[in-house]
Amino acid sequence: MRKDVRILLVGEPKVGKTSLIMSLVSEEFPQVVPYRAEEITIPADVTPERVPTHIVDYSGTVTVTNSVAIFFYFTFYLTRVPVILVGNKSDLVEHSSMETILPVMNQYTEIETCVECSAKNLKNISELFYYAQKAVLHPTGPLYCPEEKQ
Ligand code: GTP
Ligand code: MG
Repeated sequence: MRKDVRILLVGEPKVGKTSLIMSLVSEEFPQVVPYRAEEITIPADVTPERVPTHIVDYSGTVTVTNSVAIFFYFTFYLTRVPVILVGNKSDLVEHSSMETILPVMNQYTEIETCVECSAKNLKNISELFYYAQKAVLHPTGPLYCPEEKQ
């Protein structure tokens, strides 16, 4: 039985990684955000799956140019890590980007799910971290397919 879940937020600069964490913690959109949030630990008894969950703001350590690059990062270095694609700032767009995202999702088995959210409107924030927790505890697909990676 797994004891802890560790969620890393990676992505392009300014997509809202730090804001997402702070919105989750304070339940309001932060007007001012530090470059990087402190690592936070959510105690087991307040998580849906009853597992202590660490959330790590990976700002600055990984710079990628697009979501495909995120995938490659995980493939080469963290092969068994399930990935959740997050489209933040949904408050700024009128239309869902799911149609663009779905072909990418179908191509890579590491991607467990995708979610559109807004740190500003607090939309889908707790859901996002719940999906991440669930992806670790109950992955739906194989996380490592050696025959496909050659
Ligand atoms: P780096 O650490 O520099 O890579 O950036 P980051 O990914 O941590 O993004 P950050 O949280 O610093 O947010 C970048 C900017 O986007 C800030 O001005 C935020 O206020 C804004 N922002 C973050 N989330 C949202 C959102 O959901 N909606 C809108 N409209 N703006 C957002
Ligand atoms: Mg940041």
